[in-house]
Amino acid sequence: MTSPPSQSNGNTGSHLKIPKIKFTKLFINGEFVDSLSGKAFEAIDPRNEEVITRVAQGEKGDVDLAVKAARQAFDNGPWPRFSGTKRRRVLLKLADLIEENGEELAALDTLNAGKLFSEGKVTDIPSTAGYFRYYAGAADKIHGTTLKSSSELQAYTLCEPIGVVGLIILWNYPAQIFGFKVAAALAAGCTVIVKPAEQTPLSALFYAHLAKLAGVPDGVVNVITGFGSTVGAAISSHMDIDKVSFTGSTEVGREIMQAAATSNLKPVSLELGGKSPFIVFDDVDVDKVSDLGLAGVTYNKGEVCVAGSRVFVQEGIYDKFVEKVVAKAKAKVVGDPFDPNVQQGPQASKKQYEKILSYIEHGKKEGATLLTGGKPLDRKGYFIQPTIFTDVTDDMLIAKEEIFGPVMPILKFKTVEEVIKRANDTKYGLVAGIMTNDWNIANTVSRSIKAGSIWINCYMNIEADCPFGGYKMSGFDTDLGMEGLYKYLQLKSVATPVFNSPWL
Ligand code: NAI
Ligand code: MG
Repeated sequence: MTSPPSQSNGNTGSHLKIPKIKFTKLFINGEFVDSLSGKAFEAIDPRNEEVITRVAQGEKGDVDLAVKAARQAFDNGPWPRFSGTKRRRVLLKLADLIEENGEELAALDTLNAGKLFSEGKVTDIPSTAGYFRYYAGAADKIHGTTLKSSSELQAYTLCEPIGVVGLIILWNYPAQIFGFKVAAALAAGCTVIVKPAEQTPLSALFYAHLAKLAGVPDGVVNVITGFGSTVGAAISSHMDIDKVSFTGSTEVGREIMQAAATSNLKPVSLELGGKSPFIVFDDVDVDKVSDLGLAGVTYNKGEVCVAGSRVFVQEGIYDKFVEKVVAKAKAKVVGDPFDPNVQQGPQASKKQYEKILSYIEHGKKEGATLLTGGKPLDRKGYFIQPTIFTDVTDDMLIAKEEIFGPVMPILKFKTVEEVIKRANDTKYGLVAGIMTNDWNIANTVSRSIKAGSIWINCYMNIEADCPFGGYKMSGFDTDLGMEGLYKYLQLKSVATPVFNSPWL
């Protein structure tokens, strides 16, 4: 996600390499172990709906064991007590190992999530290594402030690691979201229990193996694979987990907050859905902006929380934009994500595939005009054609809800004031794209839109040092940037008399 999406997939034609699956067990206290129940669930290949392998199915008892290990590693182990410099060294080693194993890691997410192998190699995996390097560099720069320095009293703050952290993640970016959260939490000195999505459990287990190789002590990183209603719920309601950070749907974000509220009041950070406006003004180069607009909603087959899935186009350029974008969508190559010529792979899961197709049906029923796509490919697997709707109105479901698929609803607008009002008329507020050469417009709109990230004449520029998080029901707190580290720190203030205390 760190580079702007492009139509080229960057593959240099290297041979197709489907890895042998090495890790399918839970990772607790530095060891791969079976689940207590002995149960396992299927990891599915979305290209052909076949079972890749079976993965240990953790449940509450397994979460308890992981928490025990993480608690011991936090309360008595070396990791939180290491100097920042020492944590930095380990995290840098881990980043190197991620890069060295880049092909295999990319292939796991292609196999299990349908992501383009070429993108994985050039974007997802290098970015993930980059997040570890960024936070490695922060690990020895964590410090508080001096608050008072009068002749009577001095006070200062300490930033302490918050403790045992639960990280619940999703299936669309298994590598990068793991990187956002684990790198920051480890740099802060926390210990973690990671719960990858049940749709994409494989790569998190590989990262855990690499963490051990890099020298992360046992118990500091634990991975429990399994389902949300069991493993996820056990994490968010656990009395001995000090914080939860989540990326996923708004509904589950709400459940996690409730579980935290009715257990130990642990703080939660939520990165939730979006329905982000991609706004195109009359003065742009239509050819270039239609590329970016299409990529903004079809990149990673549209399974992106920041998808620009309400495309507002100003009336003067509207017809030209529609013509270009439709031609480009028709030319897009959908197919096997291991194939270097393919530009869009299958949706990650059957559930997601069916959900997208049902939104497309809604769009048709509500009276939007389907200009291209709208159908699954006539083959096995969860493939959907890039789909474009025009004549979309703000009240249609396809303009209001997160589709999370390669579906572009296009909306026409006249004035700056109008588009600001319409763009903000949503329960979400994750990001917004503004395409214009007029800096007055760019400045006005960027300050008026209620969204956590604004991209002017670029899109999806998620970078390690730019805080990333939402307004409104897109959640709160940020990943990335130094703010993404602070949320794993507990602030403490210490005060003391400078000279003899009058109280002693
Ligand atoms: P989800 O929110 O159900 O799943 C995300 C993670 O939460 C998974 O690891 C899951 O096991 C876990 N989880 C589920 N129920 C839980 C619970 N009660 N307590 C704790 N953890 C729980 O996402 P889902 O159902 O796979 O996707 C549904 C829709 O959500 C998508 O179609 C998309 O619109 C949206 N979504 C948005 C994402 C984003 O990046 N903002 C990511 C994933 C989904
Ligand atoms: Mg769900």
